[in-house]
Amino acid sequence: MRIGMLTGGGDCPGLNAVIRAVIRKGEGIYGDQLVGFGHGWRGVMDGESRDLTIDDTYGLVRRGGTILGTSRTNPFQSDDGVARVLDTLARERIDALIVIGGDDTLGVARQLGTDSGVAAVGVPKTIDNDLSGTDFTFGFHTAVQIATDAVDRLQTTAESHDRVMVVEVMGRHAGWIAAYAGIAGGADVVLVPEDPFDIAEVCARIEHRHRHGANYSIVVVAEGAAPREGTLTVQSGEVDEFGHVRLGGISNVIQDEIGQRTGFETRVTILGHVLRGGTPTAYDRVLATRFGIAAIDAVHDGEFGTMVALRGERIERVPMDDAVREPKTVDPELLDVAGMFLG
Ligand code: F6P
Repeated sequence: MRIGMLTGGGDCPGLNAVIRAVIRKGEGIYGDQLVGFGHGWRGVMDGESRDLTIDDTYGLVRRGGTILGTSRTNPFQSDDGVARVLDTLARERIDALIVIGGDDTLGVARQLGTDSGVAAVGVPKTIDNDLSGTDFTFGFHTAVQIATDAVDRLQTTAESHDRVMVVEVMGRHAGWIAAYAGIAGGADVVLVPEDPFDIAEVCARIEHRHRHGANYSIVVVAEGAAPREGTLTVQSGEVDEFGHVRLGGISNVIQDEIGQRTGFETRVTILGHVLRGGTPTAYDRVLATRFGIAAIDAVHDGEFGTMVALRGERIERVPMDDAVREPKTVDPELLDVAGMFLG
């Protein structure tokens, strides 16, 4: 078969491990020809393609980012976008697509399948771990490890200076990274989108802790965390092609409020894209590799419109609809665990 592959949306450690696994099994076992499209759906619209062979896979398992490039382009946003996608797929004689992305990228694949019969299999990707249908996405484990390392480092400097440290991590719709890194790093306050916060309560908790002997505090904030009653405005207003506002900066507001209300010296660190960069952890390399193998198998079984997913210990196939329906938010039980150690 001639199989196209693309990576869309924000990059994520482990993308190259998926690409490597697909090529290795596709070319090596099935005798497929693999075609890589550059920069997500934009590359399919623009006909930006290249052949991928086993020669491209050496050293790829440990390499961060994506050798294909990525974008947040949505073909449904331009008048001729879908037609251009279909033209490219016909010209390249693509029998099936492996689409590696989050809900937006997979949503396009699902729509093209329904409307135009494009044969696609999805691979779930996001450091945020907020995709439904799968227990975990690759990239999440790496992001949590980077965030935890950062919290550990900030703790020693916070302690030396008697400071409150506010650490902002990614997490638009869900606070998975904040919850995991908060628990692992022993944070004193964890703020997530699932549970709007009251800044007065946050300050009271920090003051209580400092009255009982602590000379520093660590506050971990997901970028999508919001105050109760929408009192603190933090959005930049810029919107991407999938309608998402660019986030980042809630922690600056929180820093100012904590500083003013408690009188404690407060500093902020926004980890942002650092969480997406660099080499994947061993866990993410293994998960990404298993997803890649499962995706090429699903193509050869003709299971189009599905996404490979981790369910417990097993890799399964689930309808792509499951992934794009709604974000997977943090289990309240996990938030309770984080809450146990606060303050
Ligand atoms: O991939 C999701 C995500 O990591 C979000 O947490 C974040 O809001 C977004 O990407 C930022 O992406 P970019 O700035 O690269 O568009």
